[in-house]
Amino acid sequence: MSRNPARVSDQAEAPTSRAQAIAQVAAYLAGNGVPADEAREDAGVLLRAAAGITRLELAMSPHAPLSAEESDHLSHLVARRAAREPVSRILGERGFWTLDLLVAANVLDPRPDTETLIETVLALVDNRDAPLSILDLGAGSGAILCALLSELPSSRGVAVDLSPDACAATVANLTRCGLLERAVVVRGRWGQSLAGGFDVVVSNPPYVRAGHIPTLEPEVRLYDPTLALDGGADGLDCYREIIADLPRLTKPHGFVAFEVGYDQAASVASLLGARGFAIARVGRDAGGRERVVAGRMARPRP
Ligand SMILES: C[S@@+](CC[C@H](N)C(=O)[O-])C[C@H]1O[C@@H](n2cnc3c(N)ncnc32)[C@H](O)[C@@H]1O
Repeated sequence: MSRNPARVSDQAEAPTSRAQAIAQVAAYLAGNGVPADEAREDAGVLLRAAAGITRLELAMSPHAPLSAEESDHLSHLVARRAAREPVSRILGERGFWTLDLLVAANVLDPRPDTETLIETVLALVDNRDAPLSILDLGAGSGAILCALLSELPSSRGVAVDLSPDACAATVANLTRCGLLERAVVVRGRWGQSLAGGFDVVVSNPPYVRAGHIPTLEPEVRLYDPTLALDGGADGLDCYREIIADLPRLTKPHGFVAFEVGYDQAASVASLLGARGFAIARVGRDAGGRERVVAGRMARPRP
């Protein structure tokens, strides 16, 4: 492994410029297995974080020299990224929907894919000012509940997670977004401890096949908790457990929406069908793949 390039300016006669540092860091990250397009983008983000400058400031002064302090800071950030830690974890935050969320250790880093779930739920809500009750099962960072409460100003939510770290992250993000007053966070196993009767039930449960986890990218395998990934032998264990309890958890005219793995939509639709839910909508990601399955009770109870 080559030397961390952010150290170069310690010894070089002329100080390294911002643009030179980005090029060197990008090459170094690519040499450590970060895909080349990501490496270039990440190098710019890390440089801006180390120098404490905005994208615009970098664009206006790409040839400004890095100070020794900035160089040291960059070196530290680059070492973490070279160990395949995601940039969002290094910086401790990530944009999700319209929000800036905290990314906590031992809690799933929310993904842009999950915005498809938000779009699907919002498309099924007739009146965004209605006072809906929302249940988020496996809340993780709280990304889904935060995004939905931010769009549905009269709604209230319950977030459930088995992981104490995830519950703490959800509270932190609800607080950061000014939404804590409209939410309750419960540590528990899916909906077990809840009375039920929600207008909207949402979940992005663990859905990776257990045998597939060792083959995931290091950014996921090494940094996202197994509890957030492991969906059992066929990836569907959590859907089975949650869906078995859905008729109790969902109001007769309510609906449910799940994020699913790229090849799981038909299986989850079938599990929902077996519990009396008709498919209300299927959400597709930017690549056109079916990533969200939403259902309503086919024969609502009177
Ligand atoms: C894929 S992550 C989703 C996190 C977040 N909702 C998101 O979309 O970014 C699944 C979450 O389910 C939680 N979880 C796993 N098993 C659980 C269980 N039996 N009961 C409650 N939560 C569980 C994990 O701790 C994790 O936070």
